[in-house]
Amino acid sequence: MTPPPAKPPSPEVPRHVAIIMDGNGRWASQRGKSRLFGHRAGAESLRAVLRACRDHGVDYLTVYAFSTENWVRPKAEVDGLMSLLRTFLRRDEHELHENEVRLHATGRLEGLSPGVRKELFRVIEATRNYDKGHLILALNYGGRTEIVDAACALARKVQAGELEPEAIDEAALSAHMYLPEIPDPDLMIRTSGELRLSNFLLWELSYAEFYFTETLWPDFREEQFAEALAAYAERSRRFGAPS
Ligand code: FPP
Repeated sequence: MTPPPAKPPSPEVPRHVAIIMDGNGRWASQRGKSRLFGHRAGAESLRAVLRACRDHGVDYLTVYAFSTENWVRPKAEVDGLMSLLRTFLRRDEHELHENEVRLHATGRLEGLSPGVRKELFRVIEATRNYDKGHLILALNYGGRTEIVDAACALARKVQAGELEPEAIDEAALSAHMYLPEIPDPDLMIRTSGELRLSNFLLWELSYAEFYFTETLWPDFREEQFAEALAAYAERSRRFGAPS
């Protein structure tokens, strides 16, 4: 991440897609079911979209799985989401190996329970040598928190005499984000008709194309993902240059 790339990436296929998986609760209530039922169906969409990334040649997929704000939800829902995450890590690990997909996580991971952290770090470690695809789970993630954490890390370096304040530029701040080695998203998708960023990747989405759809996340599968990619292919990315 850093200043806009001198040469734009392929205009056809985004290298990195970031998704706000919204609408699980509404999808469930339309069917008279619990919110957790909706999240379970949402996990199926995540599986489908991960496969679609492989098929379309999208190298990086970041999904907003749990925000710093989500802790205010009822305890049963929070516990259910954490349990779904652990199931995903156990049940889908083999698919990451088969497709040589590396798992990453972004967020204040120390805020997750020891059980979730253990499972998460185990799969991150087990897939660390893969490079055919990358799945990034945003967990206990907040965009402002990430920027604050990067600013604190820089301040500590200045205090320790390791960095001059004048040396702090965009590249320096980028280098202190949670996952500096991951390229910025090219395309951000939000489902369920909400037109907000909700504190998602505030720094990294500076030059991304946005795609909003009314489709609720559990109904967002390969076909809907392909439609989003087709819309992206029509965009003209200028990175501040004249058209
Ligand atoms: C937003 O929908 C969704 C979430 C807060 C959680 C997303 C989690 C999943 C899709 C589960 C699968 C994830 C993993 C990593 C296995 P909402 O509940 O706010 O929907 P609503 O706006 O309709 O209420």
